[in-house]
Amino acid sequence: MKNFEYYAPTRVIFGKDTENQVGQLIKEQQGQTVLVHFGGGSVQRSGLLDRVYASLEKAGLKHVSLGGVVPNPRLSKVREGIELCRKEKVDFLLAVGGGSVIDSAKAIGYGLAYDGDVWDFYCGKAQPQGCFPVGTILTIAAAGSEMSNSSVITNEEGWLKRGCTNDHSRCKFAIMNPELTATLPPYQTASGCADILMHSMERYFSPHATMELTDSISEALMRTVIRNARILVKDPANYNARAEIMWASSLSHNDLTGHRSLGDWACHQLEHELSGIFDVAHGAGLAAIWGSWARYVQKNNSARFAQFAVNVLGIANNFASPDNTALAGIKAMENFYTSIGMPTSLKELGLKVSDAQVDELAYKCSFEGKRTVGAFQVLTQEDMKNIFLLARG
Ligand code: NZQ
Ligand code: ZN
Repeated sequence: MKNFEYYAPTRVIFGKDTENQVGQLIKEQQGQTVLVHFGGGSVQRSGLLDRVYASLEKAGLKHVSLGGVVPNPRLSKVREGIELCRKEKVDFLLAVGGGSVIDSAKAIGYGLAYDGDVWDFYCGKAQPQGCFPVGTILTIAAAGSEMSNSSVITNEEGWLKRGCTNDHSRCKFAIMNPELTATLPPYQTASGCADILMHSMERYFSPHATMELTDSISEALMRTVIRNARILVKDPANYNARAEIMWASSLSHNDLTGHRSLGDWACHQLEHELSGIFDVAHGAGLAAIWGSWARYVQKNNSARFAQFAVNVLGIANNFASPDNTALAGIKAMENFYTSIGMPTSLKELGLKVSDAQVDELAYKCSFEGKRTVGAFQVLTQEDMKNIFLLARG
């Protein structure tokens, strides 16, 4: 096992009614003027925003609001947020929503602590040296941004979706009330589950020797998500299933299930091009690609895929042929996706992708042919193209 560092500084407040503590939590962080950042309106419709304002006012905090963050959050909204926060002298950023809102808040935080253009951090021109403090009230279990050190933003100029990974933006606190996720449409719940699973799989399919303990945590997490995702298909209001999945969303992306830098991450890089260009839900995009990626790379380490098949999906081990066990596991995973309404190809994702668009996806994902992605198997631009073609369906 390689050396690693584990850092998970976010304070988690988990359970029913916890959103009412938000004012006090920000006060403890020395915040005085708060940006309440949110998405397209679900938090207004559910009444959550009113409870948030009441809590902030009770704690004597000033606040300004900026809604309208869209899934696959945009750079233009980040710039609007930076300008507003400077004008209103905001000193704390509260993201009320999912990964898109949290990532947008993190980007605003980077921008506020920087004199140049915030996109510098996403296109790799500069590394953030600081970030204004961010806290969140999570409304969807999916991206894991509430405990991760990532932020992913889409630049409308060229539709480039790019990430910035830096510990400065880690949330000071994450309020997680599973009840808040009960209003999610089934497709978003399922898409979130696909993303959570993928955050563990990206780490699990590592070229490096892993630890028994880390593997066991990861496998238990994936089994738990699969079991509870199935429960939510039939019973979307099931609090315990919502709670299991919400906690899994954080633990799958706070490095507990394996270290980020030791993982593979090819599916994420491939998917970011898909959602950057076609604006699809991130988790659904991952489900649509994963099987094709898995079949393309499994021969690199069939034993690892066989372990996944047996320990996560309950496939009987065919000791004579790890390949067969591995392939049965990949099929079982795809069947699971289908059972929760997730796509297993680009066609099922609703995309009709032309040959020219496949070329564009691979060109962008390889940064114009200048980088490879993945570690379980290093993928060249040609490999990326092959996987998109396989996934096209
Ligand atoms: O905008 P509103 O009206 O709030 O609706 C949202 C949105 O349409 C809706 N929603 C959220 N909570 C709801 C709700 N609807 C009803 N009831 C609720 N309680 O769900 C839709 C999706 O929201 P979004 O925030 O986009 O979802 P998610 O958490 O999946 O975030 C996706 C973004 O995170 C990035 C993705 O690439 C994508 O841009 N990621 C961020 C990561 C990170 N920062 O660590 C890691 C991930 O791998 C991922 O790349
Ligand atoms: Zn993800």
